Amino acid sequence: PLANWNGQEMPLSEVRVSVLDRGFLFGDAIYEVVRVYNGKPFLFTDHVERLGRNFQKLQLNSDARLIAQRALETLAHSGIKEGTIYVQVTRGEAPRTHRFPEPAVRPNELIYVQSFHDHYGRQRSEGGKVILIDDIRWKRCDIKSVNLLANCLGAEQAHAAGCDEAVFVEADGTLIEGTHTSLFAVRDGAILTAPLGNHILPGITRKLVLRLAAETGIPVIEEPLPKEKLETVDELFLTGTTVEVLPIVLAGDIRIGDGTVGPVVKRLRQAYQAAVE
Ligand code: PDD
Repeated sequence: PLANWNGQEMPLSEVRVSVLDRGFLFGDAIYEVVRVYNGKPFLFTDHVERLGRNFQKLQLNSDARLIAQRALETLAHSGIKEGTIYVQVTRGEAPRTHRFPEPAVRPNELIYVQSFHDHYGRQRSEGGKVILIDDIRWKRCDIKSVNLLANCLGAEQAHAAGCDEAVFVEADGTLIEGTHTSLFAVRDGAILTAPLGNHILPGITRKLVLRLAAETGIPVIEEPLPKEKLETVDELFLTGTTVEVLPIVLAGDIRIGDGTVGPVVKRLRQAYQAAVE
């Protein structure tokens, strides 16, 4: 993969970073993942804006627009048509103290582009499976930080159970989002998803799907789904940069609807494909 490291283009394998980097020591870093279709970054402006907002939330002194410019250059030079752009910006390298370094140090800015191939063929036609797990994450899941340990543990647990994703369940029993995906349900023709707030990442694909739903005349209700209502939903699906729109037919031991991929997710999947083209 081709990288841009602090403004310099180089093979990803040649990027070197200090062990005193605050991303490495503290997870003091923000990231983004952008899909590339046919050589073009998808929903790029949304991703760049979220990156900028996250820099503000962490008081990270990095310029999202400059990163965006580098990302476009690296993508063009990579020649990759179907891929992802990964961006990670850490607060930089400094002697280990919890508070921010003073004077501020230069952030470490990494971008790399790699090819990506969808491996959800079967799940797209037959529907995928999720497990339900307690949400043990911190209370600022709106921040796209690289502190992903709870997400990694959940994803691994799902994998070990032969499932595609783990969905976090809040203390109050509501299903909130996946380890790397947003969650939607369909009930009586309307789609349901958790409202934005500190508990979930404001997903770029979530936002697109809400727009596509509105354009297709599908009503949207932004409220979280209580676990005990899972049995009453007609459809369930995940969205995200890497999963796109992914139907789910089994959640824990509960079969969703009639256990097949439903009409609403199919329609939204088509609308997503059309948006890509
Ligand atoms: N994950 N929720 C969480 C916790 C996520 O990490 C992600 C994305 C999403 C979906 O957001 P978006 O539609 O903007 O991709 C929701 C990325 C892809 C990752 O960690 O690889």
